[in-house]
Amino acid sequence: MVTYQKANGKGVTVDHTRICVVMVGLPARGKSLIAQKVVRYLAWLSIPAKAFNVGSYRRNDTPNPTADFFDTGNKEGERLRHAAAEAAVADMMKWFDSGEGVIAVLDATNSTKDRRRWVHQRCEANHIETLYVESKCDNEDIIMSNILEVKTTSPDYKGQDPEIAARDFRNRIRNYEKVYQTIDEDEKDLTYVKLINVGRQVVVNQIRDYLQSRVVYYLMNLHIKPRSIWLSRHGESEFNLLGRIGGDADLSARGDLYARELPAVVDRSVGDDRQLTIWTSTLSRTIQTARFLANSPKGYDKLEWKALDELDSGVCDGLTYAEIEAQYPEDFRARDDDKYNYRYRGGESYRDVVIRLEPIIMELERSENIIIVTHQAVLRCIYAYYMNVPQEKSPWMEVPLHTVIKLTPRAYGTLEERFKANIPAVSTFREKGSVAKHQESKESSL
Ligand code: ATP
Ligand code: F6P
Repeated sequence: MVTYQKANGKGVTVDHTRICVVMVGLPARGKSLIAQKVVRYLAWLSIPAKAFNVGSYRRNDTPNPTADFFDTGNKEGERLRHAAAEAAVADMMKWFDSGEGVIAVLDATNSTKDRRRWVHQRCEANHIETLYVESKCDNEDIIMSNILEVKTTSPDYKGQDPEIAARDFRNRIRNYEKVYQTIDEDEKDLTYVKLINVGRQVVVNQIRDYLQSRVVYYLMNLHIKPRSIWLSRHGESEFNLLGRIGGDADLSARGDLYARELPAVVDRSVGDDRQLTIWTSTLSRTIQTARFLANSPKGYDKLEWKALDELDSGVCDGLTYAEIEAQYPEDFRARDDDKYNYRYRGGESYRDVVIRLEPIIMELERSENIIIVTHQAVLRCIYAYYMNVPQEKSPWMEVPLHTVIKLTPRAYGTLEERFKANIPAVSTFREKGSVAKHQESKESSL
């Protein structure tokens, strides 16, 4: 519970901190990308978050503006832009008032001190904290590639020649530069973080609470170097063949074949001479699966993480789903009713796994090319982060054995490719309500 003192002296109690993350910066500085990533990260951690993009409100009235629309000398342009900011802030307040909102991201340039004060006052009046995130970048190459990568395909320039679009966007930036005020000494009472040249330098001011510091820490770890993340389950294990969950079994003969084939599958999916780092869990089946990859002539480094161990099924460890239903019928049903939140007796829930995976996600954000050899439930959670899969769906996703999933983060979304090894395996996927023993996979039996 957080109690705020109103101007009239009366207290207002809100049962959680509410934060408006206010993006600041010239166009093409990665603000929208940062806003979307923060929202995805928080949603993955079950913290209700939403981005309010002022550009999309502006597009309701002015879908295809040219650069002069953004000239502060253009009075009508100024009026419409302010109206768009008003509309976004009004919707944001409604969202907070509905009780569901915890962190909003106000995605706009918010490039003048006046605009930032206005946002601050609106938030303060509604007992919402503000955290300003300024992205500054003077690296011409980055700015140009941002313009070419995302701006020429923006809805603002739909159907236009990319060269003309890029030129107009440059002029738009010039118009913003005329009035842009970086956050400075006058604003030292504000809570802010400045990310300079994609986090090469970070300035942090007046962080007030845990939630703010979580967001700031996440922002400090982001980079935009091109890279991919490869995900694979371990090869088929002896327990998979028996339909038993958990345990620390060895690979089956087919699982071992997959381990031997893995370097070739990975080579096929990498396509160049990039250096990968291998992460496994501490369980035998992932270590055995990665052993040929680790010893490949490429000389990949290898790291074992306890945090990548399979979801702990507590008292059910080593049982089949049919045995669980017979011995713990209520638990079996409860898990089907809410698989994300159900915690095995003496074990874990998917929610617990996400919490222990947070440092893994943070390290992945900091890193470049990583191949993770892990387990079904853990892989679902990591995949859900990158692909924004909601909690009702993620525990039920089918993740086949003997398949490498390559994820490549792009400006707006993640590209997914799958590379199958031609080695059959059982399917360990269990549908809601079913107690079927792990089945020979339909695809692999083809
Ligand atoms: P606008 O004000 O026009 O909406 P924007 O600042 O929101 O622009 P984005 O649309 O997010 O810009 O730009 C995305 C591009 O910015 C991507 O190509 C991404 O790689 C790059 N980018 C991401 N983070 C940063 C950063 N901290 N500094 C500079 N560029 C970045
Ligand atoms: O069956 C393989 C396995 O990795 C088990 O060890 C684990 O308990 C299970 O999958 C997780 O999947 P689900 O959450 O669908 O039971």
